[in-house]
Amino acid sequence: MRKPLVAGNWKMYKTVAEARHLVSEMVPGLQAIEGVEKVICPPFTALLAVRALLEGTEIELGAQNLHWETSGAYTGEISPLMISELCQYVIIGHSERRTYFGEVDDTVNRKTQAAMMHGLIPIICVGESLEEYESGMTEEIVDRQIRQGLAKMDLQEKSAQQGQSPLVIAYEPVWAIGTGKAATAEGANAVIANVIRASIAELFGEEFASSTRVLYGGSVKPDNASEFFMQPDIDGALVGGASLNSSDFISITRAAAT
Ligand code: PGA
Repeated sequence: MRKPLVAGNWKMYKTVAEARHLVSEMVPGLQAIEGVEKVICPPFTALLAVRALLEGTEIELGAQNLHWETSGAYTGEISPLMISELCQYVIIGHSERRTYFGEVDDTVNRKTQAAMMHGLIPIICVGESLEEYESGMTEEIVDRQIRQGLAKMDLQEKSAQQGQSPLVIAYEPVWAIGTGKAATAEGANAVIANVIRASIAELFGEEFASSTRVLYGGSVKPDNASEFFMQPDIDGALVGGASLNSSDFISITRAAAT
């Protein structure tokens, strides 16, 4: 019922020329994979070039961040209106944004509302830090991030209009991002089922929760991807490091199709 989704988060890597090269390498392999939604999220500067290369393919484009205002005197920021001209998706509240750029649940909430208002599908990132994990606070932290990140929204109405959940969640334990130490597939599935989907069900109803895709992210590689995708509540992956290598990203995406 939920179509798997694999998204590549390029972070602050790749010039325009490098982005063109990487995307050209990826397109044939990705195009050959059916039954999975594929999203590439390059830096803002490469969006236009990558978009041109994706034209006529089924591969979609995402941005890595946005401001919540439509326009205004916000030097250096990019608005949802601008992003919606180019992309279908936008990553919101990635742990690197929370750690280095002061993003909190309230900014995640504003950005999510703004993204949806402009027809973008937000990929909202949640996840506990190593310290929180070690002190047994995973449930409390992730539950709070979901409830505050999605506060004051009438999502049921939106999904009824669109016929599907208007958002995607990515569960990314901070200690697993870029460390090579992925969560266990069972552990990630348990957080997604018992905390993320359960909180979404309380907020917006069972039907909405079961139509919302939840990805796992954090050191997903070709050799561990299928373990995650076999889990009943994991609907795909948000891939960082391995999305910068075409054959790795293609194999991870292929694993989501089987
Ligand atoms: P990683 O990053 O795959 O390099 O661990 C994941 C992410 O930050 O989304």
